[in-house]
Amino acid sequence: MAKQTLAFSCSACGASHKKWAGRCDACGEWNSIQEQAPLAAGPKGKTIGATKGRRIELSDLTTKDAPLPRANCGIEELDRVLGGGLVPASAILVGGDPGIGKSTLLLQATARFAMTGKKAIYVSGEEAASQIRMRAQRLGLTKAPVQLASETNLRDILTTLEAEKPDLVVIDSIQTMWADHIDSAPGSVSQVRAVAHELTTFAKSRGVAVILVGHVTKEGQIAGPRVVEHMVDTVLYFEGERGHQFRILRAVKNRFGPADEIGVFQMTGAGLEEVTNPSALFLSDREKPAPGSVVFAGIEGTRPLLVEIQALVAQSALANARRTVVGWDSGRLSMILAVLESRAGLSFAGMDVYLNVAGGMRISEPAADLAVAAALISARQDTSLPGDLVVFGEISLSGGLRPISQAEARLKEAMKLGFSGAFAPSRMKLASTSGMTLKKVNDVATFIADCFGDIEA
Ligand code: TYD
Ligand code: MG
Repeated sequence: MAKQTLAFSCSACGASHKKWAGRCDACGEWNSIQEQAPLAAGPKGKTIGATKGRRIELSDLTTKDAPLPRANCGIEELDRVLGGGLVPASAILVGGDPGIGKSTLLLQATARFAMTGKKAIYVSGEEAASQIRMRAQRLGLTKAPVQLASETNLRDILTTLEAEKPDLVVIDSIQTMWADHIDSAPGSVSQVRAVAHELTTFAKSRGVAVILVGHVTKEGQIAGPRVVEHMVDTVLYFEGERGHQFRILRAVKNRFGPADEIGVFQMTGAGLEEVTNPSALFLSDREKPAPGSVVFAGIEGTRPLLVEIQALVAQSALANARRTVVGWDSGRLSMILAVLESRAGLSFAGMDVYLNVAGGMRISEPAADLAVAAALISARQDTSLPGDLVVFGEISLSGGLRPISQAEARLKEAMKLGFSGAFAPSRMKLASTSGMTLKKVNDVATFIADCFGDIEA
């Protein structure tokens, strides 16, 4: 038998290590490496010549073998993020910081799902059944035919599920569950992996949709949801700033639908409410045009979304000027600053730069480059751009603007919200832009000249 060498793993990212170290070199997390119970040995006996696995020709699959249709869970934003509803026999991981609203969202989803006549079980390892009931009362869901269980032993849970044959199971949270054949504490990497493995196998073999809740953890003792990302079909993250009421559900992996799709919710006194027109919500706090504020017409998943980008540029008292970014990539900010300096002669040396995406939104699209550049210049020059203007376009290192996808959808959304002007890269074919004044620009320098006139370097 091969010698078992795997003994340590990182509780943040799940990377395996041969020996203990203070810092995981895979994800850079400190103090996250834990000793792991060795993996259980596989079935003993000959490797070759054992019973044959069954194989099927793809063309032999008949409609009888086709998977069951998706089931809507009744919350439209959640269904969209899932790619059009829950796929039976699939495992879904919902990760997020503690207290962000995962239990609230899933209790609401299970209740709505149960109200469609299907069977749903909500298993909580964190709250007693009476506490879940209290939450349901607050959410106005006491009438929903959801079955509640307060249980942490995996064997008991699986026995119950086997007997009850539900259509949907929610496990809240994976870190509180424990499998009794694993010799370590609940929440450790080995436990979390074993529990996730058993539950995904259960989902596949019994045709049940299983939702696993995973807390994103800061300290190393408890394994984070990333440890099981590879085992499940769909990974959703629930994010948002504590101080804001907006919550964003983002698909980062989806075997049955598009990744990068987002659903927007608002936390209210009576639970999470869906936000069907997020652009209007993200721009609702916007006052009159101010220096450093620019509206970016973005696309999140399949949906256009307008967000405000805010910048502040101030003289720095520090030897190394500060660069602070919230909601965007800091490497990308450095790149834009470098392009502005070398291609347009605008230096930010000796100035502190702060960049913020309003409303707690996080943008990863390169199409935001031009809007960020506009916000930075507007803040530096202390001049505001017209309030009815949206900006989008990717900036290349040469200072040129590259065409981006779905420009029509972006413009349409902007028009719907009362914007009448837009700046966009010139090398783009647009079918119709009636109702919008579209200014096409070739490079950053032209954009600056068009937008801000002559600027002193
Ligand atoms: P919760 O769903 O318990 O978070 P998680 O399961 O992700 O740890 O949400 C907890 C937070 O949500 C808590 O700070 C209170 C807030 N909340 C509301 O604002 N309104 C509500 O109706 C509910 C149920 C919770
Ligand atoms: Mg919870």
